[in-house]
Amino acid sequence: MILAIETSCDDTCAAVVTEGGEILANVISSQGVHDRFGGVVPEIASRHHLEGIGSVLDDALTRAGASFEDLDLVAVTCGPGLVAALLVGVASAKAIAAAHRLPLAPVDHLHGHVAATFLGPVPLELPFLSLIASGGHTLLARVSDRGPEFEVIGQTLDDAAGEAFDKGARLLGLGYPGGAALERLALDGDPEAFAFPAGRGMPGLDFSFAGLKTALLYRIRDLGEGETTRRRADLAASYQRAIVEALALRATRALEQTGLERLAIGGGVAANGVLRSRLRELGVPLEVPPMELCTDNAAMIGSAARFVEPLSYPEYLDLDVYASGERRFVRT
Ligand code: KG4
Ligand code: ZN
Repeated sequence: MILAIETSCDDTCAAVVTEGGEILANVISSQGVHDRFGGVVPEIASRHHLEGIGSVLDDALTRAGASFEDLDLVAVTCGPGLVAALLVGVASAKAIAAAHRLPLAPVDHLHGHVAATFLGPVPLELPFLSLIASGGHTLLARVSDRGPEFEVIGQTLDDAAGEAFDKGARLLGLGYPGGAALERLALDGDPEAFAFPAGRGMPGLDFSFAGLKTALLYRIRDLGEGETTRRRADLAASYQRAIVEALALRATRALEQTGLERLAIGGGVAANGVLRSRLRELGVPLEVPPMELCTDNAAMIGSAARFVEPLSYPEYLDLDVYASGERRFVRT
């Protein structure tokens, strides 16, 4: 049995997963205190992790009907993410593992998002193209084995797709994080009402979303307050379409270039219904993990841990965290 911990951003998560990929418990405590600041405040996130991690761990073990004695391995996200937040998870994992003389598997958060696809009774057949789109990352990777390293073939040069949703939502007066709220607002809007750049002119597999947010800002400024309020749904639908098109276009190119015949999607933006239907049109089997495995969770970290070389006691006592880390993810 694997006890997994994830605290890289603002969700305090613990899960119990079996070696075979069965989820026995997947506890996610979302902090919900950052919306008033319009984004995650690292020190506040860290303090909330500290306050919550004990009960989240208890809850996960209770739901799994397990005790520390049943565990074979402790897994934890070491990066990339907010350093102060990651430290809480890593310190907890070290303490539990050391106290029970268990091995510890250091897991990369992005390996976790890909490994969400390896859970469940019928994992997607290898190889496949993975599109990870979250609040912190947007990348395309060729997945030929179960990791921990994958070949990243495209990534964002500036904002992440989720960040683009969040920034757009903010400009439209929605709360943080705003992806889901923007999607709801867009339901009543016309995606063709406004033309926003989807990066069609940009060759290759990399993404850029910073210009899109600026285009929305200018459009809102041009329309003025009254007209913007009247046309908020149209703005949301058109803006969402541009993000979805940018993702779909590069996924299409990547499938063509690599010859891969399956596509898996992960990260919080994978919750977006318009994106899902657009990707289903690409003509290859699409794997979308259940919603609670798309957004940040510890079950995906437990899943990834199965394919990581574990460290034995006391090797992991000086294990460190890292803020950014494609170096750990890209096979060079
Ligand atoms: O994977 P995740 O939970 O955390 C990170 O690792 O960042 O992703 C959170 C991101 C946020 O930017 C949020 O706005 C976005 O996922 N998101 C959505 C939707 N639900 C969450 N974006 C678009 N449509 C949604 N329905
Ligand atoms: Zn994530």
